[in-house]
Amino acid sequence: MSVDAVITDDGGSGTMRAIVQREFGASEVLRIEEVALPVPAEGEVRVRVAAAGVHAVDIDIRREAAPPSMPRPVLPMTPGREIAGIVDAVGPGVDAGLVGERVVAHVGFRSGGYAEFALAVASALHPLVDGVTFSQAVATIGTGRTAQLVWDAAQIRSTDVVVVPGASGGLGSQLVQLALSAGATVVALYGGAAKRDVVENLARGGKRARGRLLPLDATDESWPARMARLLDGQQPSVLLDGVGGATGRAALESLGRGGRVVIIGWSSGEVLRLDTDDIVRASLTVTVPLGRPVAELRALETGALAALAEGRTSPPVDEYPLEDAAAAHDAIEQRRQQGKVVLIPAPR
Ligand SMILES: NC(=O)c1ccc[n+]([C@@H]2O[C@H](COP(=O)([O-])OP(=O)(O)OC[C@H]3O[C@@H](n4cnc5c(N)ncnc54)[C@H](OP(=O)(O)O)[C@@H]3O)[C@@H](O)[C@H]2O)c1
Repeated sequence: MSVDAVITDDGGSGTMRAIVQREFGASEVLRIEEVALPVPAEGEVRVRVAAAGVHAVDIDIRREAAPPSMPRPVLPMTPGREIAGIVDAVGPGVDAGLVGERVVAHVGFRSGGYAEFALAVASALHPLVDGVTFSQAVATIGTGRTAQLVWDAAQIRSTDVVVVPGASGGLGSQLVQLALSAGATVVALYGGAAKRDVVENLARGGKRARGRLLPLDATDESWPARMARLLDGQQPSVLLDGVGGATGRAALESLGRGGRVVIIGWSSGEVLRLDTDDIVRASLTVTVPLGRPVAELRALETGALAALAEGRTSPPVDEYPLEDAAAAHDAIEQRRQQGKVVLIPAPR
């Protein structure tokens, strides 16, 4: 059934709490405000947000440091491109039966997720199966679809030894779990003792983990030697690198002949340095599976949510109250996050 008018259960207040960014700059530009409740237009729904994902790109946008390929935001804006929650209203032309459904969506550069309510086009919604939490869904919708891209590129087998720098992060943690679910040996690199628990728990979190997890603190520069001892002479066959810099480089140098390298980011600020000598020396295959057409993204999202529902991933989440969005950004910038950072609006 479709409707011509908005259905709403907002209690008639007409306002909501949202993070509003009125200028570019440091995290304190993210402030909570009482703003007008958004009204879904044709083809849109409004979601009562239960969890909103925080992404490194949100920080780039906040600092006005996003790459030119991204649209320049118009201020004031509410950041946040990943939302999970319950549909509470639909716009004209949308099935009213969606109201009350548990959903997750990537809303793209329209943003608006750091709020009690956010709009999404109805075609962006995915239903959530029972047992999947809103926070894990929101950790999966964007970061999980990237993990699927990496997964497709890497073709991991149970015989692989996979090195994952940044294993405590949103993407790294899902890659570790996917590789474990394939039965691979996974060298999970993390940055300091405070991250050890979240990485050690990755083997327990993924219900279908079959592989062997070797967590190593990459802030101790002897990690390649410790890895070699643990692997008893076997060399890694795959590097999934979202960190780059010195850690990525040391991981690259540890690979055996025929190694596969998938580059997905550069959290260190420096993309993995390699040249044709490196590639020829060890017959490496290097892939950069980023920047896929939007048309391909939905299938990747579906694959990521299936991995979550089946227990092949169980992303660690680091939850902050909605009003603490600035602290959530600080945690990522200062490398204090313990998995995917998620904002939770207080119920009212
Ligand atoms: N998530 C996505 O959908 C997506 C899409 C495309 C590209 N990427 C790229 O993939 C990379 C990882 O993304 P993510 O979402 O997993 O980010 P994240 O949740 O912020 O995690 C990044 C991880 O990188 C590690 N890291 C190592 N050295 C670092 C340094 N010098 N500064 C900051 N972090 C450092 C951190 O782990 P330790 O502190 O434990 O070392 C941190 O856990 C980023 O470069 C991102 O741009 C992500």
